[in-house]
Amino acid sequence: MLDLIATSPPCADHMGLALTGLADLVRAAGYRFQTVTPATHQRVLQRGQRWARDLADAFGWNLPFHTALLDEARCAELAAAGVIEAHGEGWKARLRAATLGQRIVFHSAYPTEQEDAVFFGPDTYRFVAAIERTLPALPLPARVIDIGCGAGAAAIVLAGALPHAEVIGADINQRALALTAHNARIAGVRLQTAHSDLLDGVDGRFDLIVANPPYMLDASARAYRHGGGGHGEGLALAIVRAGLARLAPGGSLLLYTGAAIVRQRDQFYEAAAPLLRAAGCAWHYEELDPDVFGEQLEQPGYADVERIAAVWLTVTMSASASA
Ligand SMILES: C[S@@+](CC[C@H](N)C(=O)[O-])C[C@H]1O[C@@H](n2cnc3c(N)ncnc32)[C@H](O)[C@@H]1O
Repeated sequence: MLDLIATSPPCADHMGLALTGLADLVRAAGYRFQTVTPATHQRVLQRGQRWARDLADAFGWNLPFHTALLDEARCAELAAAGVIEAHGEGWKARLRAATLGQRIVFHSAYPTEQEDAVFFGPDTYRFVAAIERTLPALPLPARVIDIGCGAGAAAIVLAGALPHAEVIGADINQRALALTAHNARIAGVRLQTAHSDLLDGVDGRFDLIVANPPYMLDASARAYRHGGGGHGEGLALAIVRAGLARLAPGGSLLLYTGAAIVRQRDQFYEAAAPLLRAAGCAWHYEELDPDVFGEQLEQPGYADVERIAAVWLTVTMSASASA
């Protein structure tokens, strides 16, 4: 179902205002926090620091903090908006703040165990960097969609780089859409959000489709993590199929994903290549990192997987493809 929410002019909801104020405060304090993998986060917390010493401890490492870190009025405002909650003699953030270049992007608290957790992590940095490297070589797109936008990182970067384009952040998770809208407003960019299962909830064709879908086999089938299919490639392949059907002539699909490698064979690419060949489009495929999330190989479903590679697929539809 089409469900577009304009994020401009600003909507003055409680959480949005509280997050905008918090973003201003942390930026003014020179806040920096690169979000790490859950495994690294856990290792760092295991060192035993119990209470936050600074803003990065509170909103990056998600440690409890005392009122003195902010001030009483700010803590009351953030608590009323649901951004922080009471924790012992202090508070704990219900959202984390990542830095993406000069931008602040709010995403779910650690650990991200809830079914509707909103993702931001090392994959986000690799995905956005690959988009930034690829974008200058593409024709200027008029209509752009980020499938599975999560906290909105790629959609926000695209909206900033393409101020005249219609940019849509789409996700199956309503909490992700709400955070994307807040994060876009904080970044000062104009985009729309759409509740959509892949492209089912939006109409028309796109000049540029980008996606960083879930690619793990997740025992709890969490939407931000579970890719389905034999080795987690199910959603990435569904995006290739949906993208090929909805790209405008000359349009591009930029897909970042994690490919399970079984006895040196890339399970995603071997299934995607015949689809791309049949569609008559041009494509480029590369491994960005040969070995990510090695700890995942200990999980059910990975007995035959020797590594997970972070990969980057760029597809260009022929300019003469039928519209
Ligand atoms: C790994 S997260 C990536 C989020 C964001 N693109 C990023 O790079 O930080 C995958 C996102 O895909 C969304 N998702 C999962 N299945 C989906 C579907 N069928 N349709 C749309 N979005 C979906 C999840 O809710 C989640 O926000």
